[in-house]
Amino acid sequence: MGDIVEDEATFYSNAEDYWRDIPPTVDGMLGGYGGISSIDINGSKAFLQKFIGEGEGKTGTSCALDCGAGIGRITKRLLLPLFKTVDLVDVTQEFLDKAKVYLGEESKRVGNYYCSGLQDFLPETGRYDVIWIQWVIGHLTDSHLVDFLQRCQKALRPNGIVVIKDNVSYEGVVPDEVDSSICRDLEIVRNLVGKAGLRIVHEEQQMNFPKEIYQVHTLALR
Ligand SMILES: C[S@@+](CC[C@H](N)C(=O)[O-])C[C@H]1O[C@@H](n2cnc3c(N)ncnc32)[C@H](O)[C@@H]1O
Repeated sequence: MGDIVEDEATFYSNAEDYWRDIPPTVDGMLGGYGGISSIDINGSKAFLQKFIGEGEGKTGTSCALDCGAGIGRITKRLLLPLFKTVDLVDVTQEFLDKAKVYLGEESKRVGNYYCSGLQDFLPETGRYDVIWIQWVIGHLTDSHLVDFLQRCQKALRPNGIVVIKDNVSYEGVVPDEVDSSICRDLEIVRNLVGKAGLRIVHEEQQMNFPKEIYQVHTLALR
């Protein structure tokens, strides 16, 4: 990428402006594809179940971080049911405000709502069993993504994992002028993960999504 994002400051501020105008709903989070939320969550649940549980080498269930959490769609249906405490981080304050209502009674188990761009966010060292990063890496430049993944690795508890679940392009980097993001192909994502010094421990494609949208892949890293 690098050159595709010509002006970094504008790349970030345009994205912030875009999200500030989006309604704080599941449909808003998914660009009008609210209908795929259940398929997405069920796929993610099956993916996570491979790692978490009791016993040697298993990922714990004390604390998770939802990155680019929006209104907490993933926190509500995937993370709060599995983890004792969940923290949310998102650049859009209005979404975090909505999350407090949307998460209902269970919001009492949210530890922190951080309003920050991931490019500026420093997750607490050794706090998280799972760091979930879904549908937001396209809002980070390559070098910010690499740096953020490195900070995430330091924020893991023993046997913890970082999960990236995101759109992948067929080939190369595809810019989206509307929300000021980019979509990378899988090889590029794998490469950036490697640059950050993380190892891919498992990888899957999300099945049963509409044909017309990007393929979505899930990668577990540590
Ligand atoms: C496509 S939505 C996905 C929300 C959530 N991950 C989900 O799957 O329901 C993208 C989210 O990323 C947030 N976002 C955009 N740029 C960001 C950045 N640089 N740092 C943190 N969050 C960002 C937006 O505010 C929005 O909530």
